[in-house]
Amino acid sequence: MSKVNEKSKQESVSLRDKQYKIVVDNIRKVYDVRSQNGQDNEEFLAVDNFNLKVKKGEFITVVGPSGCGKSTFLDILAGLSKPTSGNVYIDGKPITGPALDRGIIMQGYALFPWRTVEKNIEFGLEIKNIPKEKRREISKKFINLVGLKGFENRYPHELSGGMKQRVAIARALAYDPEVLLMDEPFAAVDAQTRESLQEELLNIWEKTNKTIIFITHSIEEAVFLADRVVVMTANPGRIKEIINIKLSRPRINSQIRTSQEFNSTRNRIWELLHGNDDKKQVEVSV
Ligand SMILES: Nc1ncnc2c1ncn2[C@@H]1O[C@H](COP(=O)(O)OP(=O)(O)OP(=O)(O)O)[C@@H](O)[C@H]1O
Ligand SMILES: [Mg+2]
Repeated sequence: MSKVNEKSKQESVSLRDKQYKIVVDNIRKVYDVRSQNGQDNEEFLAVDNFNLKVKKGEFITVVGPSGCGKSTFLDILAGLSKPTSGNVYIDGKPITGPALDRGIIMQGYALFPWRTVEKNIEFGLEIKNIPKEKRREISKKFINLVGLKGFENRYPHELSGGMKQRVAIARALAYDPEVLLMDEPFAAVDAQTRESLQEELLNIWEKTNKTIIFITHSIEEAVFLADRVVVMTANPGRIKEIINIKLSRPRINSQIRTSQEFNSTRNRIWELLHGNDDKKQVEVSV
């Protein structure tokens, strides 16, 4: 084996380090797209040079401008899409496709309209061949956890947006994945429901010790929830900075949002997203 190969093998062994739940190793995603004239194909670099190590039980949020590659990144973690180069490891093993070790919660709820609340939540358990009685017991537990007791037999169209979102969370939690991948899950609900869903999610996370990757357009939501916020830039999508959130837990909206630390962190991320820090660098370097 050549020296170069040996070195890269050693590096990849350290990237499989079991102390991390997720290791994202230098991911790059190129899409083939139609060119402006509509005749030719060209390459579009959506995500580049993306590296991240996530510890078990960590809560990571990702913010960035529209089109910067957040969903592309999450789809790769979910195993729904493959990176053009680079690798993602979960518990030291490379991701090869979707699996029940990861629960996915998308923006559009994606509930089965022909299934009741209870039956939606039992879906992953059916795939796992869990017997009916046990399924009922587990779905009951998660219905209670997300505050939907009494709504077991409703169909999705009979629920509010916030309730549908709770079902989607309960469905993902029910089959007990260690990782939850959430792509703007609360974007479609009103501000008040959103704040209560954020607190509920933190409660569930504290009780279940899941590792969460949560994408959002809201800087405030990102700061409120996270241990660390990944700030991305567009064209191509790269990590600009990873911010440690020093707010204490448990976090209650009414207390956290008025704190100095919350506001200064939010402003810092706003500046990163609006490129104000770049301007400062340009001014300094001129
Ligand atoms: N299947 C695809 N084929 C070609 N280009 C794609 C494909 N999926 C995404 N893209 C492009 O890749 C870039 C990143 O898309 P992505 O959906 O990951 O962005 P995003 O950060 O999730 O945006 P938003 O905040 O609007 O949801 C965009 O420019 C998009 O047009
Ligand atoms: Mg997206």
